[in-house]
Amino acid sequence: MMANEANRLSLSLAEIIRGRRSVRRLSDRPVDREHILTMLEAARWAPSPHGRQPWRFVVLTRPEPKHALATAMGKEWRRQLALDGLDAATIEGRARKSYERITGAPVVIVPCLYPVGLDVYPDAARNAAEITMAVQSLGCAIQNMLLTAYALGLDCGWMCAPLFCPDVVTAALSLDPALIPHALITVGYAAVEPVRRERLPLETLVVRFD
Ligand SMILES: Cc1cc2nc3c(=O)[nH]c(=O)nc-3n(C[C@H](O)[C@H](O)[C@H](O)COP(=O)(O)O)c2cc1C
Repeated sequence: MMANEANRLSLSLAEIIRGRRSVRRLSDRPVDREHILTMLEAARWAPSPHGRQPWRFVVLTRPEPKHALATAMGKEWRRQLALDGLDAATIEGRARKSYERITGAPVVIVPCLYPVGLDVYPDAARNAAEITMAVQSLGCAIQNMLLTAYALGLDCGWMCAPLFCPDVVTAALSLDPALIPHALITVGYAAVEPVRRERLPLETLVVRFD
């Protein structure tokens, strides 16, 4: 166990919440399977609408599926960046960085929304609210994973890319079409100290406290 991990074992919940940061460069040190399972176990206990647990998780540890996923998403991202009018060199640079971030991570977790079993209403507004609730709960499940990873000495990065090409991710990983990939979480040990962004002061966030 390295110093970083030993130090984190004694952290309080508040220290874990404040200490967790997005880490975008991970070392190639492998991650114990037990640690991945502990993260997923934490996700399982998140709150969810009606207790329906509308989430499923894809875990990638081998190079081939990470390469397949990163390549397929990269192709689609190049297309989208070209639509934005970016020049070829910028597009290549961004796509290459994204590929390296995904394939260089020891573990990649793709949290998916699984809306099967949610309540269905006769009107669109309530169906939309139901999906929003499910997405909120998926965020809770992801945060449980991030905090657990941090407490175990690991660090994670959150990539929103799958949200912009869910069908590409589903096809690249041969997933059940009912799954909607919502994010990509890279998991490993930090290669560099992350930037520690400040937060807005509490008094600007609480708009009413009677
Ligand atoms: C829904 C969501 C999407 C995000 N997407 C990305 C992303 O695509 N790439 C990235 O580098 N970070 C992404 N992040 C991480 C944020 O940039 C990061 O959480 C924020 O800057 C605060 O920094 P911290 O996590 O280190 O506290 C995302 C975070 C969330 C919650």
